[in-house]
Amino acid sequence: MLILLLACVEDTRDTSSPGANLDDTADTGSDTGTEADWITPAAPEACGYTAGSTPGAGTATLDLVASDFAWDPGTGTLLDTGLAFNGTVPGPLIEANAGDTVVVNFTNDTDTEMTIHWHGLRITPEMDGVMQMMDPVQPGESFTYEFHPPDAGFYWYHPHMSGDTLLERGLYGTMIIREASEGRADCDLPIVLDDVLLDDDTRQIAPPDTDMMQLMGRLGNVLMANGRALRSYEVTRGQTILLRLVNSSNARFWDVRLEGHTMTVVGADSGFLAEPYVAEHLLVVPGERYMVLVEATGEPGQSYALLNNRFQLHDDEHSSMVEYDPMGEQENPVFYLAYGEGEVEGTPWVQPTPDIPAFEDNVPTTFGHQWVLDEDMMGGTVTIDGAAWPDVPMVTVQGNVDTLFEVKNDSEMHHPFHIHGNRFQLLAIDGVPVEGPPAWKDTWDAPPMSTLSFASPLDNPGEWMYHCHILEHAEDGMAGLMTVEE
Ligand code: C2O
Ligand code: CU
Ligand code: CU
Repeated sequence: MLILLLACVEDTRDTSSPGANLDDTADTGSDTGTEADWITPAAPEACGYTAGSTPGAGTATLDLVASDFAWDPGTGTLLDTGLAFNGTVPGPLIEANAGDTVVVNFTNDTDTEMTIHWHGLRITPEMDGVMQMMDPVQPGESFTYEFHPPDAGFYWYHPHMSGDTLLERGLYGTMIIREASEGRADCDLPIVLDDVLLDDDTRQIAPPDTDMMQLMGRLGNVLMANGRALRSYEVTRGQTILLRLVNSSNARFWDVRLEGHTMTVVGADSGFLAEPYVAEHLLVVPGERYMVLVEATGEPGQSYALLNNRFQLHDDEHSSMVEYDPMGEQENPVFYLAYGEGEVEGTPWVQPTPDIPAFEDNVPTTFGHQWVLDEDMMGGTVTIDGAAWPDVPMVTVQGNVDTLFEVKNDSEMHHPFHIHGNRFQLLAIDGVPVEGPPAWKDTWDAPPMSTLSFASPLDNPGEWMYHCHILEHAEDGMAGLMTVEE
């Protein structure tokens, strides 16, 4: 076993595609930050967003085109193999009210077939953008998606086939679904956390590579907020800032904190919490979202970084595997809040008061399924219920019944578990109730060697995918289907 693990470590270093170059990067990066020499900090920009969708009476419409697009992650070198929706990374933000009709006229101008998935929305299976429900949109072809997002919250969209390469190259975007009682912050700032692995010499996207990287998940050597490293957002002391965080990375778990500021978590995947809570730092796993309220208490003229701390997918407690992270071991800045002069009286934040039934106090007696996650280092595979897509047995459950589920992670590695089409509350890890107020989730961390329990009202029947959101794992078959019967 020891020999195998050592071999794995060796392998990761030797074969990370830019090879020796990456090792060089790691060496120089151990105290200064890997990307430090490469990146020019961006000029300060306004704090906020511009919606890409066009509002109408009860509708939001968007023409969405995926095409080749060379973008700059902050190195000054355009990525030749870059892709984008409507020529921006991230793609256009869709904004709608809960219950609105959203129409997306999608055109595929790339040479790769694809479907677009609306991550976290409880919509119909036909519009969910997975290939067992629709034919992929071929190069040069179009498809119109139409759906009615029922729940306020912060969501995102991305291609669902070849996710590991297409997201890395720049195809993802965000969605803000609002509810009537929702407060407004002075700055509402969606942030897509992503990393990209660049060749140290060419500063181009490193070609996908090696079985070991596939098994470990690809960690990048540039950390980006909204498609670029080291952005700065202009704020003024006194303002209220709503950070909407989503992790679109292939594999990186982000463990973030905001220098000099308190982070108050006001919402999770599908909407606001009944009760906010303060977090010193926040783990955001691939696919997951958090809404974080920040009071701008910084000093005029100063900048404060959102810092990312290294997170090991194989933690020391459960594994002797030492992972190589091209970002090094230290905390790294991701973006800055840059304070201008003066001070304003901010708009006080009004927390919406969603009625979230707490399954914790009322654990469902109906049991749905226990998924077992495992990995076979020797065989170089990851499995669910002992198999890989498309051989993972179908799970069938009755809809509109409060149902308890479990995920048992028998592997030495964290996996971000994601289920389409319904919303869930995480109840306990190894029988110990999870802390914090009840929250609607569609994606969460399944820690190594542990069993999670979670519950859902299963009020959206259909055939739904579930999978690990480490995109290499999803591509390798760590995915299955669940039928929620009418
Ligand atoms: Cu974010 Cu099945 O995906
Ligand atoms: Cu999804
Ligand atoms: Cu996984």
